[in-house]
Amino acid sequence: MSLRLEIEFAGLTEAHQATTALLVGKGGALGKVGKGIDKQSGQQLSRSMDAAQFKGGHKSALVIHAPAGTDFKRVALIGAGVIGDDKTQDLIELGGYAGGQLLAGKDASASLVVDVSGGRAASEIAAQLGLGVLLRSYTFDKYKTTGDKNKTNGSPGNDEDNGVEDKKPKLEKVVIHTEKPAVVEKLFEAERAIAEGVCLARDLVNEPANVLGPEEFAARCEALTKVGVDVEILDDAALEELRMGSLLSVSQGSARPARVAIMRWNGAKSKRAKPLCFVGKGVCFDTGGISMKPAAGMEDMKGDMGGAACVTGLMYALAARGALVNAIGIVGLVENMPSGEATRPGDIVTSMSGQTIEVINTDAEGRLVLADLLYYANQNFKPRFMINLATLTGAILVALGKEHAGLFSNDDKLASDLSEVGKATGETVWRMPMGKAYDKMINTPNADMKNVGGRLAGSITAAQFLQRFVDDTPWVHLDVAGVAMASGKTEISKTWASGWGVRLLNELVAQKYEK
Ligand code: BES
Ligand code: MN
Ligand code: ZN
Repeated sequence: MSLRLEIEFAGLTEAHQATTALLVGKGGALGKVGKGIDKQSGQQLSRSMDAAQFKGGHKSALVIHAPAGTDFKRVALIGAGVIGDDKTQDLIELGGYAGGQLLAGKDASASLVVDVSGGRAASEIAAQLGLGVLLRSYTFDKYKTTGDKNKTNGSPGNDEDNGVEDKKPKLEKVVIHTEKPAVVEKLFEAERAIAEGVCLARDLVNEPANVLGPEEFAARCEALTKVGVDVEILDDAALEELRMGSLLSVSQGSARPARVAIMRWNGAKSKRAKPLCFVGKGVCFDTGGISMKPAAGMEDMKGDMGGAACVTGLMYALAARGALVNAIGIVGLVENMPSGEATRPGDIVTSMSGQTIEVINTDAEGRLVLADLLYYANQNFKPRFMINLATLTGAILVALGKEHAGLFSNDDKLASDLSEVGKATGETVWRMPMGKAYDKMINTPNADMKNVGGRLAGSITAAQFLQRFVDDTPWVHLDVAGVAMASGKTEISKTWASGWGVRLLNELVAQKYEK
């Protein structure tokens, strides 16, 4: 995955890199190390702060170049106004902000000095900041062969355009200086696993569909064996055998066959402990099928596997940090294409559950994939809960924008646990209503149900559809169409894909199921 940055740990006063970031507390208070550098430079840091009226507010920075009497090239003072409140998400964002200042330095290595303490143990603060730095450093530039030359018309001989410097960040290593480097290093192992999981999810979503089809996605799932996940891939023959007629009706128009990947992590003390189950929509490209989407913006549908990407990244993170739970991740990998073999509007298909579905709109395909997966997961694994993630409806963007994922559930406790963990991680969810009246909207005279409920309440009728494949097992459906991609840049997310949900679900597991 595209996480090239190394994070190392050192003592507070151990040799600092030429590019160094210092945290500055409220009111412009320097820490121990900062005070030392200030003195050494003849108060250049405090004089600069005064002159710039720099008060150390959250997400503000003041860069001082080559302070006299020192060997530093760049000292970046980073406003750490949030330290003291110590909300996990704020600390991660602060780490991201500091990381941005270090990446801008274009040096191969840099230091981040964490000598400002808050309510929480300094080691924990340092570990969260490190996670922020890692998430910030993620890029997706593997297809940029000529740096930024492509942006201009770089014909040879044209001095202005030629030889434009490669803008890829050069930073390779960040040394985090803290009081107890060995303690932080240990704490950071889990954070690194989480960052790798998030960035794996981002890679999967950013990758174009010509490179990442169902088989290629399945191969990336298979690679999780290297962190101890058991992976089973069901091919189209196996899916036929299982009678997953609903899922297969989506892929039948594509030249690329469907795959289902089942990833198991057995980390609980008892091998037989009931598993947690995560299910993801993995539509590698969604043209809409015969009910085809308009051309404008269709390229975004390479990200219609954001739910599956999250599940894969989560399984990676749980395994890599050795989570003390049994968890199963299942992703349904298909491509929704129009062709002579594609499903037609009006076709009636039989799901694995035996329930029949009239496909009114072939663009409402995600629910057809999830129907069979939810039924299969519930039957086979009798899980403690099932949480599915899907870029399911455009309507959830209309309702909630890009601020919250839509949450639908048959279980108040699971729903409120997720809301709570959402606030802590900044990956926030908003619960939406469900009920009989909405359920009725997907009845049809021709089959047990139809796959769309009409113009109104589009996200809710989609959730009602899913619920028909879940019994009393606690279940949550997260509609992530607004948050998985193109959801706006933050201090810790700078590419189109966000990797949304990996941190949320990892935290749910850690806080509510591992203790
Ligand atoms: N993958 C789309 C939903 C989507 C839209 C995801 C925008 C991300 C951004 C889904 O398969 C879809 O096409 N849904 C339809 C449902 C409709 C036909 C009932 C939609 O939202 O228009
Ligand atoms: Mn669709
Ligand atoms: Zn879709």
